Amino acid sequence: MELCVALDLPTFDANIKLARKLKNRDIWMKVGLRSYIRDGKKIVEELKSINPNFKIFLDLKIYDIPNTMADAAESMANLDIDMFNIHASSGKSAMREVMSRISKLKNPPLVLAVTALTSFDEDDFRYIYNTTVKEKATQFSKDAYDSGLNGVVCSAHESNLIKSNTDENFITLTPGIRPEETNDDQKRVATIEFAKEQKSNIIVVGRPIYNSSDPLHVTEEIIQRIEK
Ligand code: C5P
Repeated sequence: MELCVALDLPTFDANIKLARKLKNRDIWMKVGLRSYIRDGKKIVEELKSINPNFKIFLDLKIYDIPNTMADAAESMANLDIDMFNIHASSGKSAMREVMSRISKLKNPPLVLAVTALTSFDEDDFRYIYNTTVKEKATQFSKDAYDSGLNGVVCSAHESNLIKSNTDENFITLTPGIRPEETNDDQKRVATIEFAKEQKSNIIVVGRPIYNSSDPLHVTEEIIQRIEK
């Protein structure tokens, strides 16, 4: 299991300062909507210059008609990134078109599909999809797998189930990881140990790292707990 740190800080300089603190670690860096909308490809370039081995996950969760998604996917794939994501609810034809477009490129990044946001609880989820998280996340994952994607974004609670319905090598990236008890907007949270038990490949941690007074220490503790 690997660690991905969410760079969701309010300024470019704050994100870069955090990345510099963590630069000797073998981790993923997640550039999300806030940072990418504000800073564009400059953030990706700066991260790679701090540590060329940082693996970069561009978390823009795109959702649109197939042709627009494929165009956007090609633009993302042409940045120096290692992984990006799209919504599984955009449908199989959109997912296939994205994969077909980027497969023409040299060294295309990995592509994950978002299944159910970790901020949804069962009631929030049922209101939109009229079914359970587990059922829909499994169906979305099968669609993504059939469409040739490399994995999904899900909560740790669905990770093992998704692998048994697709393939053990199908990547599960799980946000909503909480080293300690918290009371923020994430509902389907999990500990590091639980995520590992559920065979999560990559855990995403944001606020517990960047809001702490010693982000490097928290990161090292998480890495230790992953390796235990
Ligand atoms: O601060 P926290 O650890 O909750 O950060 C989680 C990160 O993962 C955020 O950047 C959020 O946008 C992202 N994310 C998520 N749930 C998903 C996909 C991405 O929380 N399903």
